[in-house]
Amino acid sequence: NSMHTELEKLLTTAKPSEAEISRKDFEGFKKLFHRFLQEKGPSIDWAKIQRPPEDSIQPYEKIELKGLPADVASSLNKLAVVKLNGGLGTSMGCKGPKSLISVRNENTFLDLTVQQIEHLNKSYNADVPLVLMNSFNTDEDTKKILQKYTHHRVKIHTFNQSRYPRINKESLLPVATNMGLTGENEEAWYPPGHGDIYTSFFNSGLLDKLIAEGKEYIFVSNIDNLGATVDLHILNHLMNQPSDKRCEFVMEVTDKTRADVKGGTLTQYDGKLRLLEIAQVPKAHVDEFKSVTKFKIFNTNNLWISLPAIKRLHVKNAMDMEIIVNPKTLDGGLNVIQLETAVGAAMKSFDNVLGINVPRSRFLPVKTTSDLLLVMSNLYSMNAGSLTMSPKREFPTTPHVKLGSSFTKVRDFLKRFESIPDMLELDHLTVSGDVTFGKQVTLKGTVIIIANHGDRIDIPAGAILENKIVSGNLRI
Ligand code: UTP
Repeated sequence: NSMHTELEKLLTTAKPSEAEISRKDFEGFKKLFHRFLQEKGPSIDWAKIQRPPEDSIQPYEKIELKGLPADVASSLNKLAVVKLNGGLGTSMGCKGPKSLISVRNENTFLDLTVQQIEHLNKSYNADVPLVLMNSFNTDEDTKKILQKYTHHRVKIHTFNQSRYPRINKESLLPVATNMGLTGENEEAWYPPGHGDIYTSFFNSGLLDKLIAEGKEYIFVSNIDNLGATVDLHILNHLMNQPSDKRCEFVMEVTDKTRADVKGGTLTQYDGKLRLLEIAQVPKAHVDEFKSVTKFKIFNTNNLWISLPAIKRLHVKNAMDMEIIVNPKTLDGGLNVIQLETAVGAAMKSFDNVLGINVPRSRFLPVKTTSDLLLVMSNLYSMNAGSLTMSPKREFPTTPHVKLGSSFTKVRDFLKRFESIPDMLELDHLTVSGDVTFGKQVTLKGTVIIIANHGDRIDIPAGAILENKIVSGNLRI
């Protein structure tokens, strides 16, 4: 009740133009907060978790075998591509939306997405729109940039996700003093995770608009996953099913390696396919959860979801997603929590859900500058906004790259490479400390470069490092 009073007080400070939106946001927040207060104990019972049944996760190859129909365009015309664009580039040391970071030949994540869809529309004479889910953190900057695509053959829509108040961990009341986003309220608000897509898509009116235009499915993915292109075989599979068994929700999963142990996995629970995230796992079972043998696959967050089904579930208030409680410490030292949901968690609410085990190439996220180094290098070639592994690489796996903290920010990273090294034959690279790379360096096998505190290592232009450890002080 005191939460309710505080929210009403905050609303009185809203700009008239934003009051209605904020009220809707708060309706959503209140529901989530209410559920949070009622839920005691873990959301899952570990003993009830079962392996998903055989046919609930199909190999991509089986879907691919069916081939493509002659009329790809008519399937494409029933699709919209949604990119989750609420996140900032903070973890890579960038201000503003993550999607505006350049990742390959001056192209940003957003540029690459637009190029991919434009290519699809041109190749098949189709009309696949791009939908961006922005947050209050990314909307303004993203919209400014969108002008540059006006003459491209892609219709671009945006909608904003909700803005929720961070809650003081002790008092469980909002830390905001008014609806403002600056000054003392700068850290008072947050976008409540990508699970917010269902409500905000509906509230924006865009869901109904797309349905009215004849769209049947959305392909949703993280904008920082460069492997998340529109796959025509999966699309075809969705479009050509018996109408009584139409799949409402497809989650693309891929084989887990030891590097992905934290990703969500699929389980069978209460007779339904369900996403299990590490945050839901009781401490005693975390190692079991991480095991690559028991839980073999993880969620890529590439999802294909039926639009009418989203509408049906939203209207019935039947979209059921576990609450993720995310604790944070604000710059001023205040401990807060933010309540979030994940888009894939709603899977259990849909009918006829399916996992498809896709090739690793559909999961190419850029979370760190180590990932960035790989996608900027000659390991990949680019074609119409899509990256594919160079045929010149002899092994299908990507090298393991670990750049130290002097490379964390994109700006520092770029300053430290005069050009991106040849990495075609690289297996493992570790770099730590004050290290720079000259032009046209080649890295092969396992290379470890460590400049200790106070030292600096400059790898000279043209150097070829093969199975080498470099340390100490090397300046030229
Ligand atoms: P994250 O950056 O949170 O990714 O967002 P993650 O930790 O790899 O992954 P998850 O959350 O477990 O999947 C993934 C994508 O979701 C968007 C980001 O912009 C990014 O594209 N996102 C995240 C939103 O659009 N809104 C949010 O509230 C959170």
